[in-house]
Amino acid sequence: MARLLIRNGRLLDPSQDLDGALDCLVEDGRIARIDVDISADGAEILDAEGAWIAPGLIDIHTHLREPGQEYKEDLASGGMAAVAGGFTQLACMANTDPVNDDPSVTKYILDRAEKDSPVKIRPIAAATRGLAGQVMTEMMALREAGAVAFSDDGATIMDTAVMRRVLEYSTLADAPVIVHAEDCHLRAGGVVNEGPVSTRLGLPGNPAAAEEIMIARDLRLAAMTGAHLHIAHVSSAGSVDLIRRAREDGTRVTAEVTPHHLSLTDEATMTFDTSTRVAPPLRSAADISALRAALAEGVIDVMATDHAPHATYEKEVEFTEAPPGMLGLETAVAVTLDLVRDGTLSPLEFVRCWSTNPAELIAVEGGSLRVGSAADIVLIDPTREWTYDAAQGFSKSRNSPWSGSKMTGRAVATIVDGRLVYHSERGVLIR
Ligand code: DOR
Repeated sequence: MARLLIRNGRLLDPSQDLDGALDCLVEDGRIARIDVDISADGAEILDAEGAWIAPGLIDIHTHLREPGQEYKEDLASGGMAAVAGGFTQLACMANTDPVNDDPSVTKYILDRAEKDSPVKIRPIAAATRGLAGQVMTEMMALREAGAVAFSDDGATIMDTAVMRRVLEYSTLADAPVIVHAEDCHLRAGGVVNEGPVSTRLGLPGNPAAAEEIMIARDLRLAAMTGAHLHIAHVSSAGSVDLIRRAREDGTRVTAEVTPHHLSLTDEATMTFDTSTRVAPPLRSAADISALRAALAEGVIDVMATDHAPHATYEKEVEFTEAPPGMLGLETAVAVTLDLVRDGTLSPLEFVRCWSTNPAELIAVEGGSLRVGSAADIVLIDPTREWTYDAAQGFSKSRNSPWSGSKMTGRAVATIVDGRLVYHSERGVLIR
């Protein structure tokens, strides 16, 4: 029997409200025991001195680019970036080529992931064919093939009647609809937040209202249909207010926020670094404060990376021409630990937002160290200092505004089904 004993750490498990000096014994890929000072003869020992022992992180918003854009990322490289970042499970977005709008694509992703990826992959299927916002996908068949949610992420379903039907059918498929909320007419060619920075830079602005208007519509439709609406990458204070009010009224809505929207303002675009071009755009300091408060309050349920790899040649163009998106998997922990350092989140809440809540949201096993559950575990050293260099990272792409920056805190070991798949000194251990 394969046994692994993780000891000397601070164990954090939001699913059982555990936070303390506890050891964790893993047997045959499952959690066997959580207790003080466990001794287990013959077990492999993993010393977690100075680290947190937590359920593996789950990213419900990742772009893995396979099939079709493997020059940016694939299931293997994205999976390695994930385990190096502390993730044990990823939900991958449907804007691949071909789009994941057919069960054959969903199955292809799952088959490839089984062979190539060190993390568990949960495909998100498109809500409409070709992400065109017009014809619904076969949601039941996609769900049966293994899709955990439906999303046209990257595009908004502008036709309100189509959106209504998508929400209605999602209740039959029993999976959330994840929306990329941006009114494309109001956003028009906007590439940065509309405000003083866009004016100073002379770049076309994308107003927060473009996001808020679509969220308001979708919340209304969610209330009407009873469907589970999940709002991706919330970026503005106004959006937070809308979500808060809808939750108070009993609407079934959940929401996520990215590390970049929690930490960078539109001032970061003043360098014209195209890795700061993201959709929705980086906004103001007041928006960041509202997003942080919403996470602490539980109005926003999860953090999610929106890891969006793009090739260097695609990003080395004028700001207005660059595709939106930045890498996220390898920097997420360090960037968002800032919220623990400034007292916005407790360590337990941090783990809840990165693991327990995401598991619940997409209804997969994970986010818990309960005895009997799959041994998906991360060890995080919240004080480890390191320098992130995207060129040395596991992702195939390099579009990160943090490349070259000094970071504090990182995943030091990642375990999937009881197997050590990443160790900060030894690297990724299975390929
Ligand atoms: O910045 C983004 N990039 N936002 C999205 O919603 C899509 C993503 C991508 O696919 O590159």
